[in-house]
Amino acid sequence: MEELAVTGKSKETLRSLGGGQVRQKPVPVSSVTVDRVPRIDTGINEFNRVLGGGIVPGTLILLGGEPGIGKSTLVLQMAMKLTQHTVLYISGEESPQQIKLRANRLGDEEGDHCYIVSETSLERILTHIENVKPGLVVIDSVQTLEREGVESAPGSVSQIRECTAVVLRIAKEQNLPVLLIGHINKEGHLAGPKVLEHMVDVVLQFEGDRHYMYRILRSVKNRFGSTSEIGIFEMQSYGLREVTNPSEMLLAHHDEEMSGIAIAAALEGIRPFLIEVQALASTAAYGTPQRSSTGFDLRRLNMLLAVLEKRAGFKLAAKDVFLNIAGGLKVSDPAIDLAVVSAVLSSNTDLNIPKQVCVTGEVGLSGEIRPVTRIEQRISEAQKLGFKTIVVPRYNRGVNFDAFNIKIIQAGKIEEAFRFLFG
Ligand code: TYD
Ligand code: MG
Repeated sequence: MEELAVTGKSKETLRSLGGGQVRQKPVPVSSVTVDRVPRIDTGINEFNRVLGGGIVPGTLILLGGEPGIGKSTLVLQMAMKLTQHTVLYISGEESPQQIKLRANRLGDEEGDHCYIVSETSLERILTHIENVKPGLVVIDSVQTLEREGVESAPGSVSQIRECTAVVLRIAKEQNLPVLLIGHINKEGHLAGPKVLEHMVDVVLQFEGDRHYMYRILRSVKNRFGSTSEIGIFEMQSYGLREVTNPSEMLLAHHDEEMSGIAIAAALEGIRPFLIEVQALASTAAYGTPQRSSTGFDLRRLNMLLAVLEKRAGFKLAAKDVFLNIAGGLKVSDPAIDLAVVSAVLSSNTDLNIPKQVCVTGEVGLSGEIRPVTRIEQRISEAQKLGFKTIVVPRYNRGVNFDAFNIKIIQAGKIEEAFRFLFG
């Protein structure tokens, strides 16, 4: 390509900087053409959705999650479905027999396209890639990788960094997609250096409570798609099942109304669903009151209890409070605050919230109900599931509430919401 000569006034400055030759001319955005990259369909819709429509060739994907959450299961399930491609599944954690047994459990007896090998040496892994010439590589896990010449133990920061750098180069040079599994530590961070997340193209996180069945797949970083999509799965005895209608799963269908239960119109990423919040407030038996929360931030719960004390005469110091989000899901949407305070108050007063009512709203320090994002989607989801009434923040402006076929109660403070819920 020709080098473009520099002329004019900036010549002297550029010379003093010692450079300035360019090989490419800036072009108008309108003249740039983009080839649509063909993506690999993973055969799992919820997985495709999180990736932004499948796997882009040549990408390095990091899949993180706590031990035992189901990472290997998810990836093997995908590998077995990719019959159009040769898949190389490298495991440093399990033997081929163990992997085969798992595949059987998933109901996959075939698998001529999927090659498995137990290996931890990076050099030998590269040889396997040479020999098998796969269309997709899975490495389970990054913590078991070992590069010759690196002194430190597998799983150490320098091993992980060195090995990932090599894997990344292979992915790019050969236009080969690689899925790297990584365990996350107790604090919820991917073990290994933070720099790992910067090196890879896509970071996915597989979350859930091991004692419950539901799992959420999130994208934390995606160079080829949005990070607001989530995938929802249910761990069954035959592997992971895709949950296409999360609301129905996350609502326990009680015949009777019970106190201590409130339904929140929640949102994860851009996906609306209704979820049951259960609370138990009881007189503290011993000195310090107990607080326990599953699926909801404990500090936030304490803050909401303090708001309740101020606004609704809830005696903080005299009560134990237990909170549970149905299905063991960790929900980060602040709009479930209103359901949390409503459930606690319902339990405390032993008054039921009517069955066909759900709520949405973030609660502020002075008991105000703050606006939530994507209110229309939440209302539509509630309507779709047959709810008759939804309590929403008064200050969600610019919404055409008449467009819905569900009764909408606008509340500005938690007292107003409580007056409606508990009469
Ligand atoms: P696994 O995929 O091994 O987790 P990870 O790779 O993240 O450490 O799955 C762990 C758990 O899932 C294990 O305790 C057993 C359970 N499981 C099922 O319930 N059903 C199944 O079909 C499979 C394969 C596993
Ligand atoms: Mg595993």
